[in-house]
Amino acid sequence: MADYDVIIIGSGASGLMCAAEAGQRGRRVLLLDHARKPGNKIRMSGGGRCNFTNYTVEAENYLSHNPHFVKSALSRYTQWDFLALVQRYAIPYHERDHGQLFCDDSAKAILDMLLAECERGGVELRLKCAVDSVARGDDGFTLKTETGELSCQSLVIATGGLSIPTAGATPFGYRVAEQFGIRVWPPCAGLVPLTLQPEEKARFAPLSGIAVDAVISCDDQSFRENILFTHRGLSGPAILQISNYWQPGEALVINWLPDVVLEDELGTLKGEQPKQHLKTALARWLPQRLVATLVDRALLDSPLGSLGQAQIDAVVKSLQHFAIKPGGTEGYRTAEVTRGGVDCDAISSKSFEARAVPGLYFIGEVLDVTGWLGGYNLQWAWSSGWCAGQVV
Ligand code: FDA
Repeated sequence: MADYDVIIIGSGASGLMCAAEAGQRGRRVLLLDHARKPGNKIRMSGGGRCNFTNYTVEAENYLSHNPHFVKSALSRYTQWDFLALVQRYAIPYHERDHGQLFCDDSAKAILDMLLAECERGGVELRLKCAVDSVARGDDGFTLKTETGELSCQSLVIATGGLSIPTAGATPFGYRVAEQFGIRVWPPCAGLVPLTLQPEEKARFAPLSGIAVDAVISCDDQSFRENILFTHRGLSGPAILQISNYWQPGEALVINWLPDVVLEDELGTLKGEQPKQHLKTALARWLPQRLVATLVDRALLDSPLGSLGQAQIDAVVKSLQHFAIKPGGTEGYRTAEVTRGGVDCDAISSKSFEARAVPGLYFIGEVLDVTGWLGGYNLQWAWSSGWCAGQVV
């Protein structure tokens, strides 16, 4: 007989949820992690307050090469199910912009809740235990670990993505997938600040610290949120969101004045106050330092009455169709998630079992599923972990 019914590698968000559910079904569950503590990313999530879900969760909030894959799990274990659990543990929470739900106090409350649920299920948690290799036999799986050999009927890979290596991230899950012939879409950093090419970095460096509510677009995707200038490039929620859609070499287009029909406003002001300088006119909407960086200096010093249509068009282009080609991303060091991962076509969207490898499951961020900023990545971890927890 195998040592355990289920071994889950990775005691992060999805692994904890899966372990609690499987344990409470009466399965003998071992939850393994090489880190010293479970749930490191839960602890650091949402700036320490854990944006644990969102009031609105749709398939459209996720990126994957198989855009339908998330639908089943998200509808079977919803944001309302997780919220009910949070309420059962009387964890105080609040809503922020765009339906994002955060703990009032500390992300640790969410981690403690999941650990308590694991305890209810009799889950054995083994930390500081690295897995060297995984092999499949007639009767399940054998794991060689630092502390000896272990066997199980069902093996769940919940090792997450590559972001924040200091929090325990490794490519282990991708290697297991490849070992069993499962495709892995090339991983790259997601929800990540963008860096600028040297010339633009120097141009925007003096703006470091300024945040502007803007609309940013890449291909057909747009987000309206704050853009923050940093000494390395661009950050803030709008940049993190669009980074999920950006490919190296592509330009981003920014509308710094999403609520203003600038051409009409400048036309009206030109008639009413022809002597006013353009820079004074623009100062009613945007920080002067930003305007000075984006708009031609000679134009800024011109009276509105002297501006012809071509010049007004140039101002509108600079402020409402501003195109910029980032140099790259800040990479896994600061990324919140990893794009790409284990190919969802190879995995059942109901059970999370690998179609060609009975008994092997992949859940959470290790899969090719990336959520928007706003609690979507943790909801994916909860939903996928819960679904697998019902069947392993
Ligand atoms: P997760 O990364 O949680 O867990 C993986 C586990 O596997 C880790 O414990 C790791 O140590 C272990 N592991 C890895 N390799 C191993 C190996 N070889 N052997 C053994 N164990 C191994 N999302 C959100 O919805 N709201 C938010 O507020 C935030 N905030 C946030 C902040 C920051 C700074 C980051 C980095 C990320 C977020 N996220 C987030 C994203 C969210 O935290 C993330 O998507 C989930 O934690 C993913 O859950 P998983 O269970 O898939 O992996």
